[in-house]
Amino acid sequence: MSNKTSFLADDLHQYMLQHGLREPDILCQLRKETATMTNFARMQTAPEQAPFMQMLLRLMGAKRVLELGTFTGYSALAMALALPEDGQIIACDINRDWTAIAQRYWQQAGVAHKIDLRIAPALETLALLREQQQQFDFIFIDADKDNYPNYYDAAYELVRPGGVIAIDNVLWGGAVADTSINDNPTRKIRALNEKIRQDTRVEISLVPIADGIFLVRKC
Ligand SMILES: C[S@@+](CC[C@H](N)C(=O)[O-])C[C@H]1O[C@@H](n2cnc3c(N)ncnc32)[C@H](O)[C@@H]1O
Repeated sequence: MSNKTSFLADDLHQYMLQHGLREPDILCQLRKETATMTNFARMQTAPEQAPFMQMLLRLMGAKRVLELGTFTGYSALAMALALPEDGQIIACDINRDWTAIAQRYWQQAGVAHKIDLRIAPALETLALLREQQQQFDFIFIDADKDNYPNYYDAAYELVRPGGVIAIDNVLWGGAVADTSINDNPTRKIRALNEKIRQDTRVEISLVPIADGIFLVRKC
C-alpha cells in the first residue's frame, strides 16, 4: 500500500504535487501530523487523490457519502469540505485512537457537523444501513482489503442509481499484476477487480492515481 502515485517517477510526482493541487492548510496540517505515525502514515489517502474525489463530489452534486476506513480522517475531511452545508458523511472505522485525531481536525475545520462517525466493524454498519434502506450518492471503500468483495456487494445495494462507488488501492502497489505475489489481500483485490470488470450492472474506470482507484457507477 502506498499513499503516493508510485507509478510516476519521483521528479514527475513532485511536479504534480507542486502544480496539480492546492492542498488547504488544514489538510496539510493533518497530513503532517499523520506522517509522524511512522508505521501507519502510508495508509493515509494521497494528497493528489483528495482534490480528485472532491471534484467528483462537486460534479455529481453529491450530498450523501459513505466512507469505509477513516483512519486519521484525511479523506473524510477532504470530502466534507467539498459537500454542501446539508451534506453528510457516514464514516466507518474500528479504531478509536486514530479517529480521535480525525475528530479533532474535523472540529478545527468546522465540518464536524457533516460527519457521523460509526465505530464498529464496517460490515455491521453496512448491514444496519441496508436495514434502514439508506441510499448514498458516493461510497468510498478504503478499509481492510480482506473484506473488499463483501464491501463491494453491500455498497452496490446502498448506492443510488447513477451514484458512484470508489474503491481505493486496487493496484496494491503493483502486486495485482505480479503473479509471484499471492497473499490474502492481493488475492482479494484481484478477485474484486475481476468481479467488477464482469459486472454488467455498472460502468467502470480504473484510474491509476495514488495506489489505483476504481470508479464504479451504478447504471
Ligand atoms: C487505509 S486506512 C483509511 C485511510 C483513510 N481513508 C484516510 O484518508 O486516511 C484503513 C482504515 O480501515 C480501518 N479498518 C480496518 N478494518 C476495519 C473494519 N473491519 N471495519 C471498519 N474499519 C476498518 C482501519 O482502522 C484504518 O483506519
